[in-house]
Amino acid sequence: MTKIDVTKIPKKRLYTGEEIPCIGLGTFGSDRFSSEEVSNAVAGAIRAGYRMIDCAACYGNEAEIGEVFRQVMEEGTVERKDLFVMTKVWNDMHGDGDVLIALAKSLKDLKLDYVDLYFLHWPFPNYHAPGCDVDSRNPDSKPFTVERFMKTWRQMERLVDLGLARNIGMSNMTIPKLEAVLPLLRIKPVACEIELHPCFQQQELFDYLVAHDIQPVGYMPIGSPRRPERDMMPEDIADLEMPKLQAVAKAHGISPATASIKWAVQRGQIPIPFSLHHYTENLECVTTEPLTEEEMASIATLERGNRLVKGQVFLWPGAKDWHDLWDEDGVIVK
Ligand SMILES: NC(=O)c1ccc[n+]([C@@H]2O[C@H](COP(=O)([O-])OP(=O)(O)OC[C@H]3O[C@@H](n4cnc5c(N)ncnc54)[C@H](OP(=O)(O)O)[C@@H]3O)[C@@H](O)[C@H]2O)c1
Repeated sequence: MTKIDVTKIPKKRLYTGEEIPCIGLGTFGSDRFSSEEVSNAVAGAIRAGYRMIDCAACYGNEAEIGEVFRQVMEEGTVERKDLFVMTKVWNDMHGDGDVLIALAKSLKDLKLDYVDLYFLHWPFPNYHAPGCDVDSRNPDSKPFTVERFMKTWRQMERLVDLGLARNIGMSNMTIPKLEAVLPLLRIKPVACEIELHPCFQQQELFDYLVAHDIQPVGYMPIGSPRRPERDMMPEDIADLEMPKLQAVAKAHGISPATASIKWAVQRGQIPIPFSLHHYTENLECVTTEPLTEEEMASIATLERGNRLVKGQVFLWPGAKDWHDLWDEDGVIVK
């Protein structure tokens, strides 16, 4: 088994001063891979040198991943303080007191006393059953409102007070939503997890987060080639097939996937690639020769508005289509 020298993995500094790894491992099995396959990858990845793991209650595999955390600590591969474990509260647990219950369940499953970062997975309380069809709608779904969001965020802040979450973060946010809530927060998010890959760079949102000292965490960093069928649309672009990305990869003798990861880390987001088979090379690539300025500039031109998680299942009665979730005209769509 290849083991990467953990001290060679670059770090990012949160606004709290804490240093965290520049790359993590995703754990969403995309409705294709069993909890056992994913947790085996988590075990292999930690033994290879990963220290940051991105979990979520809705991925349905926290109990198996928790067993891995127990094992790697028991065998002495890591101590608890070496790991940076992130998880997320799902959309059906935004109600009064529910966020605490949701985190308690994740902690029990993950076999931990605290998480390092707890994300609000989506900014609205719109539940849909795991694996449901893109056309399914929950009649109880509601649009984002500042009031509803803040009720949930206050519960998130309490988790920090209680020491159950060392940090809190947001996910799937937009600039208009951030503008509306940031002035109201007692505890600011340390990070915001959003979709980021070469053909979907969200430059404006990325810059906004950096300017506000909120660390961007990039999901689907490889363009999620094996995402669930329900998230595949005919208009989607395969990032890995972009000739400019392939040219950069070729120049370094690496794959377009690892070129995407190197680009992500050098740009400044924390990528969280999922992988059952390539996790070692994905970690190793952040320790090898960097992309040149020209190569970074070349990948910067690949922006195509290629949003892969459109979020149709979160639409509320009266919403037009998935574009409504993303406030594309600069105002919050209600
Ligand atoms: N906050 C949110 O709402 C949200 C939404 C979506 C995802 N996420 C998080 O982001 C993580 C990553 O997203 P994702 O899993 O959809 O997509 P991804 O990381 O972009 O792509 C994963 C796929 O890429 C393949 N891959 C990885 N490294 C490779 C390499 N070096 N060469 C060739 N293929 C490679 C993997 O195959 P192998 O398994 O064969 O290696 C896997 O099929 C998720 O697991 C989850 O933790 C969060």
